[in-house]
Amino acid sequence: MIITIDGPAGSGKSTTARKLAARLGIPYLDTGAMYRVVTLAALEDGADLRDEAALTALARDADYQLDPGPTHIRVTLCGRDVTEEIRSMRVNDHTRYIAGSPGVRAILIEKQREIGRQLGSMVTEGRDQGTAVFPDADVKFFLDAELEKRAERRLHDLQADGEDVTLEQVLANLNERDRTDSERPVAPLAVPEDAIRIDTSTLSISQVLNAIVTHLRQHGLVGQA
Ligand code: DC
Repeated sequence: MIITIDGPAGSGKSTTARKLAARLGIPYLDTGAMYRVVTLAALEDGADLRDEAALTALARDADYQLDPGPTHIRVTLCGRDVTEEIRSMRVNDHTRYIAGSPGVRAILIEKQREIGRQLGSMVTEGRDQGTAVFPDADVKFFLDAELEKRAERRLHDLQADGEDVTLEQVLANLNERDRTDSERPVAPLAVPEDAIRIDTSTLSISQVLNAIVTHLRQHGLVGQA
């Protein structure tokens, strides 16, 4: 069973996807982490972020691994743990070049489908999972929340990671990422036609999780777990 959860940054989809996967006892795929680690690899290589061929080669050849961890997916690049580094503002500020590259997207989308084929069942989250990557997913969710609420959540996460950042900076970054995510020609952020939409502005993670599990039960997709 493939369950997709799409939505903008700060909508709560990563935490929800991870907890849902744990509840169902199936793996979880954080596709944003893939775009983030390729971004970090490009920054470390000093790659020209507008050079489509260079970015595509990096996405194909970068030596990275994603392993589920207790809070985030654990990510390594050339054997080095970069789990926290890929969440930094430096990476946040540059992901749009990587996410906007058609060559990178083609490679990462194929990797995501391959992971789905190998695992059989998973909860996968991102921007395009229910649209471009897994259009035939068993069930699709789309989470959203008001911009201010999403910015507050991101600020909280970044400050917890020791980043010296203001609400204004996070708001500006989210605004820019929302715009580039929605406007890019390849696999833009969009609500899948057959997705269940959840506005998480006033909901806790456990309320979102309960809404999702209730839907899955009502549709006979999970037992009473
Ligand atoms: O969900 P996130 O904030 O970790 O995503 C990081 C970046 O990757 C963000 O700029 C959107 C992009 N992304 C994407 O384009 N497609 C995905 N499936 C997942 C993330």
